[in-house]
Amino acid sequence: MDLLTTIRTRRSVRAFRNESIPKQTLEKVLEDAANAPSALNMQPWEVHVALGEELKRLSRQLLKSFAERQLTCGPGASQPLPDKFIQRGRECATAMSALAQRMGMEFKTFVNQGSLQFYGAPAAAFLCIDESFPPERFVDIGSFLAYLVLSAAGHGLAACPIGLVASYQDDIKDALNIPESKIVVVSVALGLPDLEAPINEFRSGRASVNEFVRWIDDED
Ligand SMILES: Cc1cc2nc3c(=O)[nH]c(=O)nc-3n(C[C@H](O)[C@H](O)[C@H](O)COP(=O)(O)O)c2cc1C
Repeated sequence: MDLLTTIRTRRSVRAFRNESIPKQTLEKVLEDAANAPSALNMQPWEVHVALGEELKRLSRQLLKSFAERQLTCGPGASQPLPDKFIQRGRECATAMSALAQRMGMEFKTFVNQGSLQFYGAPAAAFLCIDESFPPERFVDIGSFLAYLVLSAAGHGLAACPIGLVASYQDDIKDALNIPESKIVVVSVALGLPDLEAPINEFRSGRASVNEFVRWIDDED
């Protein structure tokens, strides 16, 4: 698939086949992701990849922690968000909710517990940064994330970014032996898609360019 087609067709997958993926493919995806731009080419990302039984063990721990702490997926905004963003989030939740119901699950349970179980994926990459970097450098992790999901799609893998893990830092660092001085920014579930699962019918929409771009030129 060419790059532009991959960019336009990639989507997050929330149900995976119970099948492992070759480590060499994951290595290639991570190698591609490392081509992402970063400020001063510092490449601040540090990636921990949990596979198979290790990931299942972590998922069990995260579910236990979820039962106690109830930290959920959400915008995590420090102030009320402008209406249009709330509206987009609602549309996404409503569409996914109908599909989760077809799988016999209430949406919030599906998305929170599902995220913390990496939706059953056989692999998850945890994108971390050293705590000495300022928050501005989280942008570089975002850029790595974008390259990673695109490369995964290019290699025929399904992926879903999982931001909820950031709320469960301590559990993850503890379980995966990640030093205290690292910040878990986001993770990505990776595997083969379960094409039968209704949730994977979900297609997210996008605002049109004129809704988010303002041109500044001398033609007006
Ligand atoms: C930083 C980040 C964090 C995300 N966290 C989660 C998550 O915790 N759980 C989840 O199901 N999806 C998560 N997503 C996936 C988004 O919901 C998804 O990208 C969005 O709905 C657009 O859909 P698409 O990826 O299919 O284009 C996350 C995406 C990003 C970029």
